[in-house]
Amino acid sequence: MSQFAGKTAVISGGAEGIGLSIATALANEKMNVVIADIDPNNLQKAEQTLLDLGAQVLALPLDVASEGQWQTVAEKTLERFGKVHMVVNNAGVGGEVGAVEHNNAKGWQWTLDVNLMGVVYGAKTMVPLMKEQQEGGWIVNVASMAGMGGVPFAGAYTATKTAVVSLTEAWAVELAPFGIAVSALCPAFVQTRIHESYRNRQAQYQTDKKPSSSQSAAASKAKQAVENGIDVSIVGKRVVEALNDKELYIFTHPNYRPVTQKRAKLIDEAFERATKSPLLQHILEQKIEML
Ligand SMILES: NC(=O)c1ccc[n+]([C@@H]2O[C@H](COP(=O)([O-])OP(=O)(O)OC[C@H]3O[C@@H](n4cnc5c(N)ncnc54)[C@H](O)[C@@H]3O)[C@@H](O)[C@H]2O)c1
Repeated sequence: MSQFAGKTAVISGGAEGIGLSIATALANEKMNVVIADIDPNNLQKAEQTLLDLGAQVLALPLDVASEGQWQTVAEKTLERFGKVHMVVNNAGVGGEVGAVEHNNAKGWQWTLDVNLMGVVYGAKTMVPLMKEQQEGGWIVNVASMAGMGGVPFAGAYTATKTAVVSLTEAWAVELAPFGIAVSALCPAFVQTRIHESYRNRQAQYQTDKKPSSSQSAAASKAKQAVENGIDVSIVGKRVVEALNDKELYIFTHPNYRPVTQKRAKLIDEAFERATKSPLLQHILEQKIEML
């Protein structure tokens, strides 16, 4: 029997795209699924899709950037299913793109609040419940290959996804004593509507500024890449496979391996130079705290 059967997962941004793919794969493992999303119409459609599969499903409105709304999701999840065993922090937006000098503060704030604080609030809300239950659990943070190496003209997105990878590494160690496994899903391009994220841009982050040429160019490049991406249905199945293998990093695009190899090589070479610097010889033997 699947280790997930009969347990409960909360999936943010579960109304379409990667979130719905993960919800579907978990429902196929006989998990109860709570899909929580800012888009009420798609939420209803996704609920029906999952019900048609025979899933136990609860669909709830959620703006991940609101800690208060996360609390309501937690309460309603407990009311319906009694416990929560997994949170999939999936909701995310393409956010502010374009040349650094064309970025505006509201666009950055939108990207940070949804892609980063949304993940923080999801974990902050669900972890205490998991700890109290003493049955372990899972946190799946949806990062990106952009969290594994900077993407030009997507500074805000890159910053949030890098932060999500780092948070995952920190929480994986912090929560291991509680049997809570923490993973970062790092896809490259997947066929979804991520390039149309502005459709969900909340009122407080709106601006009447026209996009600059670098912003339009970056948006159209992203659209093309996403449309040439992998089929979204693979992603949920891959997450289940990787969770069964207890993977910290979950990759969906093995062809992107040279990206991390190049980065690791550059970092190692920089350390090699620091190791040889006459200025730093006395530091080489000092005890380190991070390992
Ligand atoms: N599609 C890709 O190529 C790709 C690649 C790497 C990572 N990702 C990541 O995958 C995750 C899902 O994106 P997707 O590609 O499925 O995009 P998508 O736009 O198709 O789906 C995003 C979902 O999140 C919801 N959402 C948006 N803002 C929200 C908010 N504030 N609160 C709650 N729900 C919100 C949307 O309504 C939608 O249902 C994101 O974190 C994204 O960064 C996507």
